[in-house]
Amino acid sequence: MNNQSHLNDLFEFLRIPSISTDSAHRDDMQRCASWLAAKFTAIGLQPQIHQTPGHPIVTARNAHKTGRPTVLIYGHYDVQPVDPLNLWHSNPFEPKLENGIITARGATDNKGQILAHILGVQEYLAANGELPLNVIFLIEGEEEIGSPHLVPFLREHQRELACDIVAISDTGMLEPGKGTMTYGLRGIACLEITVSGPDKDLHSGIYGGAITNPLTAISRLIATLHDANGKVAISGFYDDVAELEQWEREAWAKLPMKDADILNLTGSPSLAPEKGYSALECTWGRPTAELNGIYGGYQGEGSKTVIPSAAHAKISFRLVPSQDPDNILSLAEQHLQKHCPPGVTLTVTKGHSGAAYRLDPNIGFGKAAQRALSLAFPGKDPALVREGGSIPIVADFKKILGVDTLLLGLALPDARIHSPNETFTVENFEGGIRLNQILLQELAKQ
Ligand code: BES
Ligand code: ZN
Repeated sequence: MNNQSHLNDLFEFLRIPSISTDSAHRDDMQRCASWLAAKFTAIGLQPQIHQTPGHPIVTARNAHKTGRPTVLIYGHYDVQPVDPLNLWHSNPFEPKLENGIITARGATDNKGQILAHILGVQEYLAANGELPLNVIFLIEGEEEIGSPHLVPFLREHQRELACDIVAISDTGMLEPGKGTMTYGLRGIACLEITVSGPDKDLHSGIYGGAITNPLTAISRLIATLHDANGKVAISGFYDDVAELEQWEREAWAKLPMKDADILNLTGSPSLAPEKGYSALECTWGRPTAELNGIYGGYQGEGSKTVIPSAAHAKISFRLVPSQDPDNILSLAEQHLQKHCPPGVTLTVTKGHSGAAYRLDPNIGFGKAAQRALSLAFPGKDPALVREGGSIPIVADFKKILGVDTLLLGLALPDARIHSPNETFTVENFEGGIRLNQILLQELAKQ
């Protein structure tokens, strides 16, 4: 295994600022897709760049043979924005390597992890000349914005993407050296709201007291989303929630991730789990309503005495199995309209969404994945976990392609994904490359 050349590949990949949500980076997205295609060509796979109305999708495959299983390896080359930039200790797109830790935006989520898959294939080919099964890579540039063009792509290319199982490294690893299989992900449903008042910003002295301030109204409205115990107060929100199973609550309590660790990792002054559940259970298996942004009025230095004409908020819901994202968005919209204070008007704009996912980890391919984890990370039993994050396309793989997904993640709890100073350890990069070679072998036996 050529460690230096692998690191060089990763650094090149990380230097491309592929921020999908920011239109200023459109060319970088193209450059990143081309970089991947060139890498696939270099290792002997046949790549294709598929343009979409958004960012390109890259696929690549080996020569398929009948009678062997086909694995589809999914990942994403887009990254989250870097702001607040001033909190980074180094340039987010100039990877830094220090004491075995790589710091850069996308280091873990998801460039390091998807590259570990690609380099696993490269190493396997170097050692054996041929892969033991049929492989399809599917790497998109819009995961971090809700995969708007991947669902239509799956429908259009259903035949070329036919496979027996999907494998993804884009989830967590409980601790260094402990192989982790994620058998459940939360879903997500997003919306934005605008509360409008006067038709222009007003002097808050001249008019204050005569009209409803949109910022006050939006604050009161947002405050109705939770009750005094922190439960979501939207009527019907919990109706379809699949309860946690007793066996999993018991199994999770034995994992080396305690509520004290969660408190530590967040840096928050205290935990605030839903009554009757541990913090871990709340993040992995309970639904939430989260405020992701709220803005309006004067944000600059000092004060400005103004009543803004409008106030805005970005809200997302994390969902658990059996909750339907469209239904949740409708319930939320009804709730917000019903509770909107008088004197302002409310507009609700629904955003992207995706259902939760759950897999029986003991199906044949699941057992194969657990064997691969044990072999790649010896010494510690693999952990079976659910997680709070979302990869919306996973539910669509099941719905459209009819296949299950193995989630074998390498993101350590302190990797700071989506935050400043995101990291990936060289140990996990190399472990991932090792894991993905063994995985090919184990999946081929099915
Ligand atoms: N890699 C994450 C998802 C993840 C992280 C799952 C850690 C489990 C553990 C992925 O890139 C991500 O951030 N997804 C977004 C999806 C959304 C923007 C549609 C998320 O969960 O916020
Ligand atoms: Zn992410």
